[in-house]
Amino acid sequence: MQIQWYPGHMTKAIRQMQEDIKLIDLVIELVDARVPWSSRNPDIDQLGKQKARLILMNKADLAEEGQTAAWMAFFQEKGYFAAKADARNKGNMKAVTQVIQEACREKTERDRKRGILNRPVRAMIVGIPNVGKSTFINTYAGKACTKTGNKPGVTKGKQWIRLNKQVELLDTPGILWPKFEDPAVGLHLACIGSVKDEILNIDELALELIGILLEKYPGVLTARYGVDEALDAPRLLMEVARNRNCIKRGDELDYSKAAALIVEEFRSGKLGRITLEFPKKE
Ligand code: G4P
Repeated sequence: MQIQWYPGHMTKAIRQMQEDIKLIDLVIELVDARVPWSSRNPDIDQLGKQKARLILMNKADLAEEGQTAAWMAFFQEKGYFAAKADARNKGNMKAVTQVIQEACREKTERDRKRGILNRPVRAMIVGIPNVGKSTFINTYAGKACTKTGNKPGVTKGKQWIRLNKQVELLDTPGILWPKFEDPAVGLHLACIGSVKDEILNIDELALELIGILLEKYPGVLTARYGVDEALDAPRLLMEVARNRNCIKRGDELDYSKAAALIVEEFRSGKLGRITLEFPKKE
């Protein structure tokens, strides 16, 4: 399955981000914990050079815990700070704050040596569409936080949200688009819903997803749909249609309905906690 997708306003967004990044000390990069590889954009390494870097594995509630831990170790080994979260859950944010503070320690220390005290560290959220950037900002900053900047009489500037004494967050996230050269990247992003469904063939996507699940998570499809995993993907999809009563007019099996069902149930976690990519051993 070839997925070709490239939004037109990319250049403008990158230019905006290049400007914003000059203003900040820490880049918080959100990735989807189910596909940490594909949901990163390599441009960010260039854009965020000389900044403290934190990779936040979001939607960790949908990913396999052991794999998320392995990915965190992988990123840490490469010199990034790493954390995991379910951005919808405020309870997760304490641990995130701790890592943010750790990631900023060097900068705070440098400021202190130069006699600059109590200057908050400025951070920015970046990530590809649908990884949870807005959700994270809303949960993390909450309503209680005061917005700074754009005060009357002050030159129109960026909106900053004061998270606590040490950290201010730029309130608009940087949206990056993923790289699509590797077809597996496109496929994995389609599976998690980061590519617009309108341009996808959901029947084909479901067949690909079935293939991945049979290989990486044997037993999951049997447990959910009572199907025989010895079948090939198209036959297995037929079985799902039959067992889930996906029927078209004229009593025919509705292949497309079953395909959409599998994709939706994977995305919403009904098939269990599933990670599609494992860290590469180098
Ligand atoms: P974006 O700004 O990066 O584009 O992403 P956004 O926050 O809009 O989040 C995209 C979808 O992912 C939303 O669901 C959001 O609720 C969900 N989401 C964000 N973080 C997490 C997480 O950690 N775990 C899980 N399970 N879901 C998360 P939606 O269905 O598009 O919207 P809604 O129904 O929640 O309003």
